[in-house]
Amino acid sequence: MNLPSAPPPIERVLFTAEQIEARIQEVAARISADFEGRELKLVAVLKGSVFFLTALARYITVPLRVDFLAISHFTNQPGAPGLVRIAKDLDDAIEGEHVLLVEDIVDTGFTTRYLLQNLAGRGPASLGICTLLDRTSRRIARIPVNYSCFEIPDRFVVGFGLDHKQLYRNLNCIAVIRPD
Ligand code: IMP
Ligand code: MG
Repeated sequence: MNLPSAPPPIERVLFTAEQIEARIQEVAARISADFEGRELKLVAVLKGSVFFLTALARYITVPLRVDFLAISHFTNQPGAPGLVRIAKDLDDAIEGEHVLLVEDIVDTGFTTRYLLQNLAGRGPASLGICTLLDRTSRRIARIPVNYSCFEIPDRFVVGFGLDHKQLYRNLNCIAVIRPD
């Protein structure tokens, strides 16, 4: 039986589609200015960050390449320290390139720190981080976030690529969901 799916259990919308679009344009303008005269590669982690990468890339004006990798957590607990591995690697080398790691959210920072260390070992000309959401209140691993669109409170959020049990990535806003 094909029952209609339940509406998302949204408690509160943090950022509307219009607010997200406007903020992404601002951040893309800063990136374009900072990398003027150079080529840039955006690297995103599947699957959540893809939504942000494609939105951001459309407003960046310097020559741009994109590449993707996938990670898997050894436990169900995202952010458990050191318990991340690369499940699908980038297609191409990044040696000598200007690379921005595009993240959906930096929470404890463990995932981002692992990825930064891994990518830094490949000899890029520069390596930075651009995140849609930053939850600094839960940060444990100290990492430099070069570009951040929004700071968020310590509540679980979905939408614009972020999921709960693989659902709600397609919401065009970012929302807090009711705890189940
Ligand atoms: P970190 O290693 O603790 O920084 O966790 C990063 C990962 O945890 C993100 O890439 C997300 O997949 C997931 N995550 C953390 N907070 C949230 C949230 O509020 N909603 C959805 N996913 C989250
Ligand atoms: Mg996730």
